[in-house]
Amino acid sequence: MRIQEFLDHCAASERWVRDFYTFLAERFRADPRCSGLFGQLAEEEEAHACGFEFLKPIAARSAPQIVVNDRFLADFERMRRGLDKVRHRVESQNGSSLPDVLGLAILVESTTMERDKLAFVSVEDRDFQRVLDGITACDEAHRKKLEEMRDSIAVLA
Ligand SMILES: [Fe+2]
Repeated sequence: MRIQEFLDHCAASERWVRDFYTFLAERFRADPRCSGLFGQLAEEEEAHACGFEFLKPIAARSAPQIVVNDRFLADFERMRRGLDKVRHRVESQNGSSLPDVLGLAILVESTTMERDKLAFVSVEDRDFQRVLDGITACDEAHRKKLEEMRDSIAVLA
């Protein structure tokens, strides 16, 4: 049952990140390029949440072939608290800094990607691995897009 619970946590964390990007898309709506990127990322985080939900019946079918290192459970809670904190900070400041926000988003993507790579210690089910790899590849693409945005802003500054 641990794998099912873990997948629930994964899906929930994708939705926290989705909500964070939705918030940023709104917060930075004056900058269409930035707002567009955050909006797109939010949609893809929802797709990741669905991906983890899609994995649940596969895991039910093939557990105990899937071994989870639940040391990463603490990461979910830490990430949720971190996102809440930054959101409050951005809400309470009028001139929240875009580079700071991008830096945090890059960190969130890296953390999620590492967790998804390391938490599933052993997966023998190929369907499960394929979906998981797709989610990880998408996080990697998110990180690249965020880095490009950060670098293009640095050039203008
Ligand atoms: Fe994601």
